[in-house]
Amino acid sequence: MDEAFHILIVDDEPNIRSGLSKGLEELADDIATAGTVNEAIDKFDAGNFQLVIADVRLPGDRDGLELVSLVQQRRPGTTAIVITAHGTVETAVDAMRRGAFDFITKPVDLNLIRQQVAKAREHHQLQTENRQLRDKLAEVGEVSGIVGNCRALKEVLTQVRQVADTDATVLIQGESGTGKELIARAIHDLSDRSANPFVAVNLGALPESLLESELFGHEEGSFTGASRQKPGCFEVAAAGTLFLDEITEIPAKSQVDLLRVLETGQFARVGGEEPLESDARIVSATNRDVQQLVNDGTFREDLFYRLNIVPIEVPPLRRRRDDIPLLANHFLSHFCTRHCRPKKAIDAEAMDVLISASWPGNIRQLRNVIERLVVTTGGDRISAAELPAELARKPNGETNVIVTLADAVEHAEKNAIQVALAASDCHRERTAQTLGVSVRTLHYKMNRYGLH
Ligand SMILES: Nc1ncnc2c1ncn2[C@@H]1O[C@H](COP(=O)(O)OP(=O)(O)OP(=O)(O)O)[C@@H](O)[C@H]1O
Ligand SMILES: [Mg+2]
Repeated sequence: MDEAFHILIVDDEPNIRSGLSKGLEELADDIATAGTVNEAIDKFDAGNFQLVIADVRLPGDRDGLELVSLVQQRRPGTTAIVITAHGTVETAVDAMRRGAFDFITKPVDLNLIRQQVAKAREHHQLQTENRQLRDKLAEVGEVSGIVGNCRALKEVLTQVRQVADTDATVLIQGESGTGKELIARAIHDLSDRSANPFVAVNLGALPESLLESELFGHEEGSFTGASRQKPGCFEVAAAGTLFLDEITEIPAKSQVDLLRVLETGQFARVGGEEPLESDARIVSATNRDVQQLVNDGTFREDLFYRLNIVPIEVPPLRRRRDDIPLLANHFLSHFCTRHCRPKKAIDAEAMDVLISASWPGNIRQLRNVIERLVVTTGGDRISAAELPAELARKPNGETNVIVTLADAVEHAEKNAIQVALAASDCHRERTAQTLGVSVRTLHYKMNRYGLH
């Protein structure tokens, strides 16, 4: 809300000092006065003043205009108003150049000066808010290592900032590898919960039997293998942020449990009676179309509404192509350092291929491609010929370029999964069965290839 507003009044006439102090009482949280520039500077340095009102003519060798400059040097952004007996244009212009916000002519009209001070206060507050916004804008990226400059990403970051300071439940949607987890962390890092834990739990990676205990904890002896009491994610994340990743993978029974905690803030450990409370801030994420799953009846509508208070949509990389050079160079220098390789550059032709590739695996895929290039290529330039062939391949076109065996295997694997998925109407268990792999393996591969 409104921050403190302290005024320093500087005038050599005691009458004016006391008159202004009284007249402005209601507009300030605190008012101090000084009779000379030296006294004013001492008080200014010792205090925390947002507005300085100074007479131009002051005893001693420094006048009120100089005071305005001194104040600006010491604390830029301090608002200043000067008072002059004979308001000449020169004085006014000089005062403004030195950073004064407004000026007043004597004899002092208290009503007028009240209006000017009210305006100065408003101006000061706006300035502060703008500065805070700017600082935070820089922070979002810096704090959480989010690279990117394009409009689509900036819009997401604006939402992140707006929502961070609230406790609102956020649902982050976007394709695999678009940076959803990074966004979840940014929300936490910029919130007033940042000193408390950020707990991430991947609901797709947990077998149903362990899920409940992971989320809510368990009591000693509550099931085979529960040798000790263990707190769950809701408990650990209390006062912090609980990130529920791959939220749509949660089984029907656990959807009910989760809904209950979200509604009441209460839960119990598995095998426990004692009701526990958690006010963890919930951020969840998914790379699937939740609305579709709700329509299909596989995801509870009431749970969806609870989770989707603030929706954030993270755009795929193909919708932020402007950021590809920035990201590619970022990963390049990151991996050169990490793998102790000399600095490399991507040549223009290679960069064009990167910019126009379809990137079904989004930023994760770009990151992997660059890491592989850092490790497998020599020299100080990466050329188009060194890029994996899949990048240049048109979505359905066939090419005759030679690919590495690993790329060929990946390509064939991806194809097989796509065909099996289509054949089973995207039923994951059936697809896994057809392909002779576990659901987890299938899931992992689908994520890796950006298949939904
Ligand atoms: N804007 C970005 N700047 C830098 N790195 C990024 C950016 N976005 C994503 N990454 C990196 O890309 C990788 C994938 O990001 P992340 O794990 O957040 O994606 P995700 O959307 O959660 O994917 P999935 O749906 O598969 O879980 C991570 O290594 C992450 O650090
Ligand atoms: Mg993720």
